[in-house]
Amino acid sequence: MSKSDDFIRDINAGNSFKGDYITLGSAMLDGETMTNTYVNVPLKTMNRHGLIAGATGTGKTKTLQVLAENLSEKGVPVLLMDIKGDLSGLAKPSPGHPKIDERHEKIGLPFKPKAFQVEVLTLSEQNGVRLRATISEFGPVLISRILDVTETQAGIISVIFKYCDDNKLPLLDLKDFKKILQYATGDGKKEFEESYGRISTASTGAILRKLIEIEQQGGDLFFGETSFDTQDLLRIDDEGRGYINIIRLTDIQDKPKLFSTFMLSLLAEIYSTFPEQGDSGRPELIMFIDEAHLIFNEASDALLNQIESIVKLIRSKGVGLYFVTQNPTDVPEAVLGQLGLKVQHALRAFTAKDRKAIKLTAQNYPDTKYYDTADVLTSLGIGEALVSALDEKGKPTPLAATMMRAPMSRMDILTESELSQLLAESQLAKKYNKEIDRESAYEMLNEKIEQAEVEEAKQKAKEEQEKLKRVESKKRATSTRRRSTRQNPIVKVLSSPTVIRSVLGILTKMLK
Ligand SMILES: Nc1ncnc2c1ncn2[C@@H]1O[C@H](COP(=O)(O)OP(=O)(O)OP(=O)(O)O)[C@@H](O)[C@H]1O
Ligand SMILES: [Mg+2]
Repeated sequence: MSKSDDFIRDINAGNSFKGDYITLGSAMLDGETMTNTYVNVPLKTMNRHGLIAGATGTGKTKTLQVLAENLSEKGVPVLLMDIKGDLSGLAKPSPGHPKIDERHEKIGLPFKPKAFQVEVLTLSEQNGVRLRATISEFGPVLISRILDVTETQAGIISVIFKYCDDNKLPLLDLKDFKKILQYATGDGKKEFEESYGRISTASTGAILRKLIEIEQQGGDLFFGETSFDTQDLLRIDDEGRGYINIIRLTDIQDKPKLFSTFMLSLLAEIYSTFPEQGDSGRPELIMFIDEAHLIFNEASDALLNQIESIVKLIRSKGVGLYFVTQNPTDVPEAVLGQLGLKVQHALRAFTAKDRKAIKLTAQNYPDTKYYDTADVLTSLGIGEALVSALDEKGKPTPLAATMMRAPMSRMDILTESELSQLLAESQLAKKYNKEIDRESAYEMLNEKIEQAEVEEAKQKAKEEQEKLKRVESKKRATSTRRRSTRQNPIVKVLSSPTVIRSVLGILTKMLK
């Protein structure tokens, strides 16, 4: 048997699964595509997370698009973090292209243009379904992690949450949170001191400054109501296809804090609300994070730890996370070690450092007798990748250089009018795009402070009045006394010096 026959046999054996799977393309050997030698990924292991890596322009985002489409077709809903804004085309069918036909001929798959059910979401004021969460939902621990505060400050945040709980003050947005922090060392100082201990102005000041940082990155738009129900990410359309939810994050590049805040809250929310998955054989939701280095670059150690543990835990909820980034080293070691599917596009060997990185990357792939992995990594063409998946038992499938299939939907983005049309038809937009600012901590504390002021004013007025009364009655008393001496005519006459003298005269006369 020839080398290519052996190769085809091995790939076919390693890529045939009992359960459902998706097809990425066909395997390649020595630069040739082996038509009909499909490279498949079983749905069952897609919750084991993954990585899509490669130099710029090598096809990472299109691979993401292909994965999203095929998952949707298999009834798996998808969530995409669209940082470059190049994914909205999923909502429209591909116009087709001779190059695409050529690609698919090599692979041995028919090419069928298709549109998908897309929901466009946003964290900011961009066109899209508004994604929001309340401060209460975050809870003191997550808020402290996000703000990257000291232990003392975290303690204060816990006290603040406890106070709001005890006093039934809803903490919805940043305005509420800022107000209560100010209250704790201002108007409410005595009240806090009595029930929760002393809170220093320096600490609340430090927390406030960190809140302002989040606010400046658009946190005031993100925190508040109506908070997003993660169940809405799990919708299936009438044809049994999973919805593709795209979060537009084009304006998030310079707002890493807001991005990691949002990511973490979303993961935490999903983790706490999704039921534990049995061995269902298919994922509940697959999440793709394009330009993933953005969440890791600026994240604090505490935040990284949180992300690492969530990545580990969320698998059991049937949720798979796929990180898309240029270099595998962009993803922290602890996360990288947990990724089951690897789609590695070409890497460029410009510098000695690049060559070292390529060697290291190659070592992370399963052994193969068919290629020199490091060589393949630098010679892959656009839309070609080295693929290593986990089979249904969790063992790595044979390493395959793969000619990736093309997206069935449009590779280009939607026009503004197409986007508006999509939103006009969106059920989620109707549910989440209403502005509401119900009474919460901010208003309630203001009222409380006002009431306290009114009470104080009343008390003062009362005291004033009483004082006045006292003065009045005192005045009256003296004036009565005076009146009794001055105004009673009999007394007046009797006490007059003449009378006294005459009375005295009579008395002396009588005594004589
Ligand atoms: N699977 C594919 N089928 C057809 N064409 C592809 C495929 N993958 C990549 N291409 C072509 O290569 C171009 C670049 O691909 P893509 O945008 O996915 O690169 P990228 O790795 O995400 O780049 P960047 O790092 O700049 O984001 C696409 O516009 C498309 O023309
Ligand atoms: Mg890209």
